[in-house]
Formats: sequence, C-alpha cells, structure tokens
Amino acid sequence: MDNFKRTLITTALPYANGPVHIGHLAGVYVPADIYVRYLRLKGEDAIMIGGSDEHGVPITLKAKNEGVTPQDIVDRYHGIIKKSFEDFGITFDVYSRTTAETHYKTASDFFKTLYDKGEFVEKESDQYYDEEAKQFLADRYITGTCPHCGNEGAYGDQCESCGTSLNATDLKNPVSVISGSTPTIKKTKHWYLPLDKHEPFLKQWILEDHKEWKANVYGQCKSWIDLGLQPRAVSRDLNWGVPVPVEGADGKVLYVWFDAPIGYISATKELTPEWEKYWKSEDTRMLHFIGKDNIVFHCIVFPAMLKAEGSYILPENVPANEFLNLEGDKISTSRNWAVWLHEYLEEFKDQQDVLRYTLAANAPETKDNDFTWKDFQARNNNELVAILGNFVNRSVVLTHKYYNGKIPAMSAVVEDFDTESLNEIAAIVAKVQTALDQFRFREAIKEMMNLARLGNKYLADTEPWKLIKTDEERVKTIMYVSLQITANLAVLMEPFIPFSAAKLQKMLNLEGCTWDDLGRTDLLPAGHEVNKPELLFAKIEDETIQKQLDKLEATKTANEVAAKTVTPAKENISFEDFTKMDVRIGTILEAEKVAKTKKLLKLLVDTGIDQRTVVSGIAEFYNPEDIVGKQVSILVNLAPRKIRGIESQGMILMAEDADGRLVFIQPSEEVKPGSEVR
Ligand code: MF3
Ligand code: ZN
Repeated sequence: MDNFKRTLITTALPYANGPVHIGHLAGVYVPADIYVRYLRLKGEDAIMIGGSDEHGVPITLKAKNEGVTPQDIVDRYHGIIKKSFEDFGITFDVYSRTTAETHYKTASDFFKTLYDKGEFVEKESDQYYDEEAKQFLADRYITGTCPHCGNEGAYGDQCESCGTSLNATDLKNPVSVISGSTPTIKKTKHWYLPLDKHEPFLKQWILEDHKEWKANVYGQCKSWIDLGLQPRAVSRDLNWGVPVPVEGADGKVLYVWFDAPIGYISATKELTPEWEKYWKSEDTRMLHFIGKDNIVFHCIVFPAMLKAEGSYILPENVPANEFLNLEGDKISTSRNWAVWLHEYLEEFKDQQDVLRYTLAANAPETKDNDFTWKDFQARNNNELVAILGNFVNRSVVLTHKYYNGKIPAMSAVVEDFDTESLNEIAAIVAKVQTALDQFRFREAIKEMMNLARLGNKYLADTEPWKLIKTDEERVKTIMYVSLQITANLAVLMEPFIPFSAAKLQKMLNLEGCTWDDLGRTDLLPAGHEVNKPELLFAKIEDETIQKQLDKLEATKTANEVAAKTVTPAKENISFEDFTKMDVRIGTILEAEKVAKTKKLLKLLVDTGIDQRTVVSGIAEFYNPEDIVGKQVSILVNLAPRKIRGIESQGMILMAEDADGRLVFIQPSEEVKPGSEVR
C-alpha cells in the first residue's frame, strides 16, 4: 500500500440533535466500517474515529423548543447514537463527542495557534440583533418572507419551500425566533479563515495532485475553486459552543464547522497517547468518510485549517457518497422521513447484516439512490437466504450427513470443473480486494456474493446428493471443494456482514484467519470437524415489510396534518392603512362560468353604489345557479384588473381554510346592499 505505514479513518460526526438513520449509514458508516474491517483483517495499523457533533444552532433551537438545555439534547442523542452504532457493529476505535473536555481544549488551542500565527482576518459585519433578548441572532434564529417564492416561514439561511439558500438580510419582514420582535442590525466582529489566500495551494493539491479522487468529490471541489474561494467566518455570536479564546470575544464561540473536524483530532487523543503518530507523520494515510454535503468542509476548509496550523498531514482521499432517499423521498429528520437505526435494531432483532448488506449493495456511490423496503426484502430473500444461506447450509448439512461433520480428503476422482471452481476462489477474492482498494463497496459486496453464487451453482451442477449413490469418491471431492468455498466465504464476509461471518466461522470451527489466507484451498483440512448447521438468514415475510410501509404511510399522514397549521399573523399595520379598504355588502345578481377556466366565475354584483362585474376564483366551490341572490362581502376600491380579458371591478372576500377551501363572508342577517364592513 504505497509508502504508508498506517491508516487514519475519520467518519463524519453526526449531529446530536436526532438519532442516526439509514442515510447516514449508507453514506458514511457502513462503507467506513467495511473498509476498516478489511484493513484490520489484513493486519494493517488502522483506526476508525467517530463521535457526536454537539454544537451548532439547530441543537440550541431544539433545546429551546423543548424547554431544556442544549446539553440535555446532546446527552440524549449522543447516548442513542453511540448505542445504536455499537449494536449495529460499527467498530469505531473511539466514539467521542465535541462537548468532551479534551475537545474544548484541543479546539480552543487550535484556534489560538492560528490566531497567534496571524492566520485569520478580523472583520466587522452587519448582523441581526434582538433588542429584547439582547443577543445577536444566528441565521437560523430569523424567519421571514422568502424573496424568491414568498414563503412566509423561510429561515435566515434557507427557504425550505423553494430550497434557495439565503442570507438573513435577504428576508422580507424578518422576525426573531426568540422574542418574536423585529430584529435590528448591529455591527459584530468575527474571525475569518482567508480561503482566498489558500486558493493556489488548494488548486494544486486537489486539482493537480489528487485527480484520482472520486468524480463527484473532485467535481465539487473544482466548481468551488473555479468560483473563487472567499474568506469564511470561523466564529459566531452564540452561547453554545467552544468560546473564542481571545480578549474581547465575549458571547462568541467557534463556528460549529470549525470545531467539529477538530473533533477527529480530540477523539484520537482520547484513544491513544500516540495520537500524533496518526496526525503528524507523512507515512499515515488519512481518509475522510463523509456524505456529499460535507465535501467542501473536508476537502477545502479543514485542509486549509490544517495547512495553516502547519504540523498536520492532509487527507489522502475523501471517498464521499451521494444521498440515499427513502421510498422515493428525501430523508428528513424534521419530517421524520427515515428508517431510524435504533428502531430498526428493535424491530429486526439480530438482523443487522440484512441492513448492512442492503445498504452496501445499494450505496449511493456515484449518484443518489433509493432505499425501498421491497428491495430490502428481495435482497434478503433472494440473495442472503436463497444464495448465501442456502449454499452454506447445504455444504454443512451434507458434511454431517455423509461424513459425521468431518471434512473429507479430496479424492483422486477430480474433474476439471472441480479444480476450476477451486481456482475461481482466489480470482473472486482478488476482485473484492481491488474494489475495496478503490472504495467501490457496491462492487466489492457484489463480488463477495459471487463467491456464494459460485458455491451455490457448483452444488447445483454437481448434485452430490444424487451422486452419493453411484460415485462416493467424486462426492468427497465435491464436498471438499464446497467446504473450501464456504470457509473462504466465512472470512470474506467479515468486513461486510460480520455477524453472519462470526456465526459461520464458529460453525466451521475456523479461527484466526486473516485476509492473506483468502484464496487458500485448504482452509478446512481433511479431518477437521465442523459444528452442527445453523441458519444464517431467515426469510422476511410480506407482513413484516407491510408493517414498515404502513409506518411510513402514517408519517406521511401526520406530516400532512402538521403542514395544515394556521398561517402566522402578518406584520402590524396602522389604523389608517386599515381604513383605506372599502369593503361593502353586495348581492350577487348574475353568475356564470368563465369559459375555458376551471376556477373562475364571472359575477354581476349589486354593491349599493352600482352594479359591477367581478371575476372570482370560486368555481370549484360554488355552482353559478346556487349563488344568485346571495349576499357577500366585496372590496369595492380595489383597482380594476383584467382577468381572462374581463375587467374585474373589485374582489369578493372569502374565508380560506388550510385545505384551500373557499367560503363566502356573509352578514349574519340580511342588510341593505352598500352597507360598509369595518
Ligand atoms: N455534523 C455534520 C453533519 O452531520 C458533520 C460534521 S463532520 C466533522 O453534516 F468533520 F465536522 F466532524
Ligand atoms: Zn422560497
């Protein structure tokens, strides 16, 4: 492996504001775990670092919503996340958290070092300030109207309705989430990492020296660099995070994206006093496993930080994945659209490997991918059960049946097919290895399964259960070959589906094999005894899958109900503004549909002042013949507008509920047309 002596694998630190879901797993933790298990099996010095990312505004907002402290929130989720990773067999060498003391010190010192070296620029900028709460407002603490789509609930950093990313100062009618007041703008000082200054270096290091990075990663880096890098603020006005360790920085903390990657270093310190060996020697190969939304931070910002510090190595590769969707929709923590790991572990007891297998086989390596429960079921039933489980089971069962569980010696009766099949083992192992070395996990697990396919087909073609009556010698050979395939599988499965690999190794009494043993055709020597067969996988029934689909359906319904909440109140207006509106009670004299439209009715209304034509979008709710003679409210001084070629002189006022249903606003008793509404 080149000139590297050891590998440092980091995995994106999940935010501790919710549990971990299949998107996290497929994007980051399953591939990273496969990879580190592979290296360990090869006997290499490799460590995998993980931890919870416990800072950032969303955590403070969640705490505020629940009336608890941010520490309460992160304690809760750090606990759930850590436990679920463990139970799922993600083998971190250390799983730490960014509220750990070591981390505060490490992050603080890191900042101080850059500060003392003059690696930051200080700048004042305009920031929203809540006069009532006496604090600066992070972008997420501001809501207002999106300048692009008019959504009234847009956040200061993004409109979730149209997806545009925003600056808080872009919002119309900004409101503080904390007090509900209109924020003012105040000057505030922050420290910036001048990425522009590092641009020449980054250009060379990524675009020239790391052309081998995955296309999605390389491409994203290139487009960032091509756009021109800007200084990035590394501090925030917030009271949750690592305090900025310089004079006059009261109320300021390190930006979460500054402290979180330093969390990798802090966690390594917790793991071993020799942490510097991993972080500061050129013969360490550092790899960042992340999702695509983290690419810029790991390929541009963090390397710039490390470079500026001066004593650290940079990542050798960043095998970032794209996103996994769930049943066609984007996974979302806030919309509860996810398969949560801790729930999966409860509902699918001892079936970690089924999910590991499905997620790796379906990993969004080059493009976004979809997880469906039907595919999960099919992968289990048609691949794990029908191919892998079936083959292993048959070879162990037959060994007991014919030879009392003792591996037979290969007999002198050998056909080409037998030797070819034995030779095929090493060929498949080589393919798995090549794929793993290139971070192509989908392909790797497919090749792993091809070894089971080989075995399954070998047994089906040779049919030892028939041959046993006529050619006992050949059957010895066949069983010997099958068992060597089985034994190789038991080792090869380990990085991918470790629970089943352990079970199988135990069944075979196979101990202490390493990656280098793979391909050997004497892993189970003649005379070696294997244990009683046990099923590795069980069929998943339709009911089980339906239950999961029903659960998702219930989430959809709940989200729809939640979405139908009342629109928040608009900004206050003056009494004068109100009196500008001239609303009267009028009587509908005539009504007809506007041709070629679904929604429009043309009405003739007696307003008391005059008779006038009004075009109204109510055709889906009222038949023309039913509304003649009805009294309605009409805004009479609205400037006339042409609608479908008809001049509309005023507007009929309607009440609209969350479903968009419209009903007339009528006087509770009949009044004279022209009566004023005020
Ligand atoms: N918490 C971030 C996310 O979930 C990832 C942080 S990775 C680290 O997107 F580098 F900052 F640690
Ligand atoms: Zn918008």
